[in-house]
Amino acid sequence: MIHFENVTKRFPGGQEALSALSLTIDKGEMVFVTGHSGAGKSTLLKLIALIERPTSGQVVVDGKDTRRVRRRKIPAYRRQIGMVFQDHKLLYDRPVSDNVALPLIIAGLSPRDAGKRVRAALDQVGLLHKEKKNPETLSAGEQQRVGIARAIVTRPKLLIADEPTGNLDPDLSLEVMRIFRRFNEVGVTLLIASHDIALIDKLGCRRIELEEGRLQQAPDEDDFLAHFGDDYVPQGGDDGWR
Ligand SMILES: Nc1ncnc2c1ncn2[C@@H]1O[C@H](COP(=O)(O)OP(=O)(O)OP(=O)(O)O)[C@@H](O)[C@H]1O
Ligand SMILES: [Mg+2]
Repeated sequence: MIHFENVTKRFPGGQEALSALSLTIDKGEMVFVTGHSGAGKSTLLKLIALIERPTSGQVVVDGKDTRRVRRRKIPAYRRQIGMVFQDHKLLYDRPVSDNVALPLIIAGLSPRDAGKRVRAALDQVGLLHKEKKNPETLSAGEQQRVGIARAIVTRPKLLIADEPTGNLDPDLSLEVMRIFRRFNEVGVTLLIASHDIALIDKLGCRRIELEEGRLQQAPDEDDFLAHFGDDYVPQGGDDGWR
């Protein structure tokens, strides 16, 4: 689903955010990107979303070489990717349902068709009962879930999230991860940047660790099992996360 081949991103001023990075994320995977502040996590996601372009190397998303996606085709390209950010950028002058409907209206759906999809998306994040509320009146976790509903309302095959639980307490973070995992179970590929290693390890998902723009080998499973012993439950196991 995502393939980076020797990708380098250098920002004006000489800062190299990613250095000759190569990685592959298969369809249907749920993968976390971790690493210190400034390691290049957001840059990695921005290259996938075409918010930034690589200085050199190739980024392939869903079989498409992103170098071939021209500027005017970027909005259509982005519609196929759900994006969730720590700062969810909701519009506070309109209700929850309008916020979630936005990508559909931009894509040209009729309000009637959009309405159905919006309710389905809100239902998936457990917020159908809040559709008429102003986002301002919602808790931080609820607002983040509105952001997730907006990201998935176009039914993307790929969801990328940058620190989606950064502002949430552990219980709410867990709730958000459960929602992500449910999407993953119905086939959505997820790539999530996060600092929350304890939560990631509990989920048992693959972790890509960046260090100064390069891949840092995550500890392999044998080391991991030796360390965590019986507490380790692999992804897909009956671990009570659903
Ligand atoms: N627009 C930009 N212009 C110049 N340098 C940038 C730009 N965006 C990112 N950088 C630099 O690239 C490096 C990687 O930044 P990035 O935002 O990808 O890190 P991150 O891993 O997401 O960090 P954090 O955990 O703090 O969000 C940093 O050194 C940063 O200063
Ligand atoms: Mg970041």
